[in-house]
Amino acid sequence: MEGDGLANRRRLVSTGDLPVGDVVEEQMRAAHERYRDVTDGRVADYIPALSCASPDWFGIAICGVAGAVRAVGDADREFSIQSVSKPFVFALVCDAIGVEEARARLGANGTGQPFDSVIAVELDPDKATNPLVNAGAVATTSLVPGADVDERWEAIRSGLSRFAGRELVIDDEVYRSESGSNQRNRGIAHLLAGYDRIYADPEETTDVYTRQCSLLVSARDLAVMGATLADGGVNPVTGERVVGEDVCTKVLAVLATAGMYERSGDWLFDVGLPGKSGVSGGMVTISPGKGGMGTFSPPLDEAGNSVRGRLATTDLAHALGLNLFASAPADTG
Ligand code: DON
Repeated sequence: MEGDGLANRRRLVSTGDLPVGDVVEEQMRAAHERYRDVTDGRVADYIPALSCASPDWFGIAICGVAGAVRAVGDADREFSIQSVSKPFVFALVCDAIGVEEARARLGANGTGQPFDSVIAVELDPDKATNPLVNAGAVATTSLVPGADVDERWEAIRSGLSRFAGRELVIDDEVYRSESGSNQRNRGIAHLLAGYDRIYADPEETTDVYTRQCSLLVSARDLAVMGATLADGGVNPVTGERVVGEDVCTKVLAVLATAGMYERSGDWLFDVGLPGKSGVSGGMVTISPGKGGMGTFSPPLDEAGNSVRGRLATTDLAHALGLNLFASAPADTG
């Protein structure tokens, strides 16, 4: 009996299940319809290659922990993953060196500052931010195991591919474009080197980080990647274990506090789930024990989060009963 109780407690990482697939799809279609004509936000152009994206592209996908994927709109259109790579590379590093070592070296607190902040490093007494802003993400990339740059890059590419359940490839145009305009990230990497807060060569690490941001994914991929974090580290489509359960718990905790940068509090207030945005318009949201949601729509708000992605995710978290903080009184009858 006691054994059964423990087994059940272990399984119930979040209460309840996703609604049945038809309901999920109906709600996704409704959200897509509701927000497809929203014109707020601006397509990012500080990485020149990103400015070619159409502001009209809009896709949503949800993958449940049983492995079923539902998708609407431009859910199969590929785009560079950008900052949505950060939690997954952090997960690979946690798996490689342990969650406590990763926390000690990278930090785990929200900065309250924009994603590319330099002052956030300066303000932190430990000169460690968190793995989801550029400074912490570059430091995270420097901890990926490998004998040289090529091995570290392949560990990231193949690791993120295992999260997605298919072989991901780099968008060369985006990589070249960001390599020519990433002086700020290179500066951050050298600043970290001055504080011994980057753990490999700063120039080489910024290059690997830039490649990682240029990997091509779709909203469908992001849903599967998110579902892998929701499923205790096992990809529910391929059945492959990608990272450990403890890693997922810690990655989701950091996502909740810092995934949406200085808007993380508003995001948690509205959505009640860990999520991560990227500057090309991708967004992943994780409902632990239930599934992952991927959205794609290039126009961004001032904090760099996809406008339609935020609106659709907020509605779907509510409509599908995903908010982690929602509860009802215990049945005392
Ligand atoms: O490092 C950069 O600036 C980009 N490769 C990624 C930034 C990003 O996606 C911020 N997200 N909202």
